[in-house]
Amino acid sequence: MTIIKAALLGYGTVGQGVYTALKTHRQQLKKLLGAEVEIAGVLIKDPNKKRDIDPDILITTEFEDILNIPGLQVIFEAIVGEEPGFTYLNRAIEKGIQVITANKVMFARYGKVLLQKGQKYGVSVGYEATTAGGVPIIRTLKQLLQVNKINRIQGIVNGTSNFILTEMRSRGISFDEALQLAQRNGYAEEDPTSDISGKDAFCKTMILSELAFGKQPIWSDVELEGITSITEEQVQQALQLNLRYKHVADIYQENGTIKASVKPILVGESHPLFSVDGVDNAITVEASLLGRFTLTGPGAGKLPTASAMVEDLADIFTVKKRELQPSI
Ligand code: NDP
Ligand code: HSE
Repeated sequence: MTIIKAALLGYGTVGQGVYTALKTHRQQLKKLLGAEVEIAGVLIKDPNKKRDIDPDILITTEFEDILNIPGLQVIFEAIVGEEPGFTYLNRAIEKGIQVITANKVMFARYGKVLLQKGQKYGVSVGYEATTAGGVPIIRTLKQLLQVNKINRIQGIVNGTSNFILTEMRSRGISFDEALQLAQRNGYAEEDPTSDISGKDAFCKTMILSELAFGKQPIWSDVELEGITSITEEQVQQALQLNLRYKHVADIYQENGTIKASVKPILVGESHPLFSVDGVDNAITVEASLLGRFTLTGPGAGKLPTASAMVEDLADIFTVKKRELQPSI
C-alpha cells in the first residue's frame, strides 16, 4: 500500500484534531486516495508536556527534523502567530512539500506570498481551516469564482465571540464565565484577546477579501471593534426587545475600493444571522449569478477544524492521484 507521509506542526486543539481525524477516517481516506496517510513527525514547543501520541512518531522541537523526514509529502500547520509559521511553510514549499494551514494570523498577512510560491514550486496550499472553522467557505468561494463575481460577504466568523454573546443572552452567565467556557471547549485562541477584540475575525475577513476580490483593504481603514464593551445588561435589554448582538464582518467593493468592517451589531428576527448561535459561524455571500446564500456551521473547535484540514488533504491528493493516472 502506498503511504502519504505527513507531519503536524503543533499538537494543541487543532493538531490533536487532525491526528484523531486521520485515525478515525483512515478507511475513507484510504479508499479515496489509494494510500495510507501516516503521521511521521510532530513539531511542538514544550518538550516536557505529556502527549498522547504513538511512540513511533518523531516528536521534536526542531523544524529541521521535520523537513528531514525522508519522503515527507505534506505538512499540516497548526501553530500560533505569523512566525515561525510563515518561515516554516516557505521552507516546506521550497522542498516541494504540500502545505495545509489553520493559522489565520499568518495567512492574512502572508497568504498571497505562499500561494504564489506554491504555484512556482508546484505545491498546493490548503487554507480552508483558516476561516470559519469547519464551514467550507473557502472551497465554496473558489468554486463559485470560476464564473460568478462576488458582490458582498457578511457574516459571523469568530466562534468564541458568538459563543460568549449566546451564553450571556440565553443562560445569563457573565462575559468572563462564558469566555472561560469557550477556552475550555478549545474554541478560543491561545491569547483570547484576539477573539474578543475582533482581531481574529479581522484576519479571516482579510483572507476572504483576498480570495473574493483579489485584494485586501488597507488594514488601518477597516472599522474594527470587538465585543468587550458589550455588557450583560445591554445583552438582556436587547433580549427584551427581541434583538440580539452579533459580531459581524462585512466586505464589499465600492468604486474599486474594498470596504470592510468587523464589529458588533444589533439584529432583529428577520436578519439571516439572528438565529446563528453558540460556536456556529455563518457567512452570507452575494454572488452575481447565484444571488444570496448563507453557509452555517461550527466555526471553531477540534474536529470541525480538523475536518477542514483533512478535506484540504483529500482535495490535494485526489488531484495528485488523477495526475498520476495514465490517460486512456
Ligand atoms: P493551541 O494553543 O491549542 O496549540 C498550539 C500548538 O502549537 C501547541 O502544540 C504548541 O506546542 C505548538 N506551538 C506553538 N508555537 C510553536 C512554535 N513556535 N514551534 C512549535 N510548536 C509551536 O492552538 P490551537 O490548536 O487552538 O490553534 C492552532 C492554530 O490553529 C492557531 O493558529 C489558531 O489560530 C488556528 N485555529 C484554531 C482553531 C480552534 O478552534 N482552536 C480553529 C481554526 C484555526 P506545545 O504543545 O508544546 O505548547
Ligand atoms: N478562536 C477562533 C474562533 C478559532 O473562536 O473562531 C477558529 O478560527
